[in-house]
Amino acid sequence: MDQAISPVARPEAPVDPVDTIRAFTDTGPVVRAERRSVDEDESRRANGPDWDRYADEYQATHGPFLGAAGFVWGPEGLTEADLGVLGDVSGKDVLELGSGACQCSRWVNTQGGRAVGLDLSGRQLQHSRRLDEQTGVVVPAVQATATDLPFADDSFDVVFCSFGALQFVSDIAHALAETVRVLRPGGRFAFSITHPTRWMFPDDPGPEGLIAAQSYWDRTPYVEVDDETGRVSYVEHHRTLGDWVSLLSGAGFRITDLVEPEWPEGHERVWGGWSRTRGVLTPGTAIFGADLLG
Ligand SMILES: C[S@@+](CC[C@H](N)C(=O)[O-])C[C@H]1O[C@@H](n2cnc3c(N)ncnc32)[C@H](O)[C@@H]1O
Repeated sequence: MDQAISPVARPEAPVDPVDTIRAFTDTGPVVRAERRSVDEDESRRANGPDWDRYADEYQATHGPFLGAAGFVWGPEGLTEADLGVLGDVSGKDVLELGSGACQCSRWVNTQGGRAVGLDLSGRQLQHSRRLDEQTGVVVPAVQATATDLPFADDSFDVVFCSFGALQFVSDIAHALAETVRVLRPGGRFAFSITHPTRWMFPDDPGPEGLIAAQSYWDRTPYVEVDDETGRVSYVEHHRTLGDWVSLLSGAGFRITDLVEPEWPEGHERVWGGWSRTRGVLTPGTAIFGADLLG
């Protein structure tokens, strides 16, 4: 169960092996990490409860960095206010996939957009309600999966995802087909993910995390298994940069942006495997922007 040496850049994973054991025995099952195939049902059955267990700690640890109505694309702290990859959201219908506590959607609403959050985890959405009350900026949100969107065709001008659902989904072609279905023709899609090159490295913010240890081309999912029950308790899926290009163009998108944020001067925050030590040498986050043709 040593996520400190997991191959996956899991933004929220504790990094010290001792902390890892403590964190996961306090809040959930003792798990062991392995690599094996996992289908969509198993991914969802694992990740929903995992995020329910982890939500309080996630929000306590990262909430102040994210901001109650802030839009941060990843651990480097690049904001949508600076990047503008969504374009002008004013007056637009916007859907956030894997919204967590809907901080990004809340920012969209402060810019005149009409954002809706969607997340697998009910506990994450309870945090969203808390932030609605705290800020007075309310984001309607629904508990659902990115692979089965509870919206009519052509409902949104913009769909986005900030380290949200996409790397937790097994059936990514289906998730993209759902995104296409709910987007209006010409709609905008943007998302951030762990940079695919991170898959090669141990999830360690220190120098050990700079030594390539496994194949970039091995797409076998990262899986945590509950030691006691043998059940899968957490899953992440990997796609290469080439996979993403093929997936997006195959789904009918024209890719306009691939942003690889550099580690900012003076930014010392460590988030799981993201750190200045690694960030000044190798990208930790990839942000895609694409237009739906048509
Ligand atoms: C790393 S958090 C990011 C949350 C938010 N975007 C943020 O920046 O804080 C990933 C979120 O994706 C959600 N998620 C995982 N699998 C999902 C799925 N299949 N459909 C919808 N949401 C999912 C999790 O519940 C979790 O809230």
